[in-house]
Amino acid sequence: MRRLLVIGIGVGDPDHLTFQAVAAMNRAEVFFLLDKGEAAAELVRLREELLARHMRRPYRIARADSPKRDVAAPYKAGVAAWHEARAALVAGMIARELPEDGTGAFLVWGDPALYDSTLRILDAAREAGAPAFEIEVFPGISAVQALTSAHGIVLNTVGDPVIVTTGRRSLDDLRPDATLVAMLDDGSGLRALMARGDSLDIWWGAYLGSPDQMLAAGRLSEVGEIILERRAQARARKGWIMDVWLVRPAPPPPAPQPDGATRP
Ligand SMILES: C[S@@+](CC[C@H](N)C(=O)[O-])C[C@H]1O[C@@H](n2cnc3c(N)ncnc32)[C@H](O)[C@@H]1O
Repeated sequence: MRRLLVIGIGVGDPDHLTFQAVAAMNRAEVFFLLDKGEAAAELVRLREELLARHMRRPYRIARADSPKRDVAAPYKAGVAAWHEARAALVAGMIARELPEDGTGAFLVWGDPALYDSTLRILDAAREAGAPAFEIEVFPGISAVQALTSAHGIVLNTVGDPVIVTTGRRSLDDLRPDATLVAMLDDGSGLRALMARGDSLDIWWGAYLGSPDQMLAAGRLSEVGEIILERRAQARARKGWIMDVWLVRPAPPPPAPQPDGATRP
């Protein structure tokens, strides 16, 4: 039976890779790399570097240009059509590149369970007629973990929930009792939140784990514009950006005391 290993590789720092991931990589004879175009070239390069550094057995890279998402289509319909096209491509690659008892692998950015479609696409590839295969999944350091560790903060406040969402949904998903993490934002989610004017604290990170890592934190009303400006400049300089941010209600100001002192 063919076997596919879906391996989380972290989000930019080669040292994010776990020992378990390295061991899994060394079981694979072929790695499937879907190139999403210029902006993602650096992310493909990191995968190639990880392979060159850690592989102790001969391996092949099966590469294909990923179909493009129709950005003019309504978001969910556009993503569904894109996944379908990728599933057909992956089904063909598995049939061509992986022998009957072979082991192949996908190196997934971050963690395969968080805003990544590899597992969904493999399910769809089965339905699209790929030869039978089994899947094993290996966790990776996600952008959320890279963000909280870079800032040295706890993800949640005591007993309160955490909502992980997309930039486009961040305004709708904001709750007064929860920490909200936004991924895949093009800046408009953050701007919408700033426009609403709630008293929020923000922790932001871009290119986390890489030499280009950028961090900012503070009261949203004070650092929001600075973040958006740094974001725009970095995007213009590099041609692409990946950033993630976390907000939660700012703690109430200290209450004034009769003796003139303030107590938190
Ligand atoms: C398609 S999702 C992939 C998430 C990934 N599977 C994970 O576990 O973090 C891409 C989004 O993850 C976030 N992201 C991924 N890598 C990042 C990095 N190095 N720095 C900041 N954000 C990152 C950004 O919000 C980006 O838009």
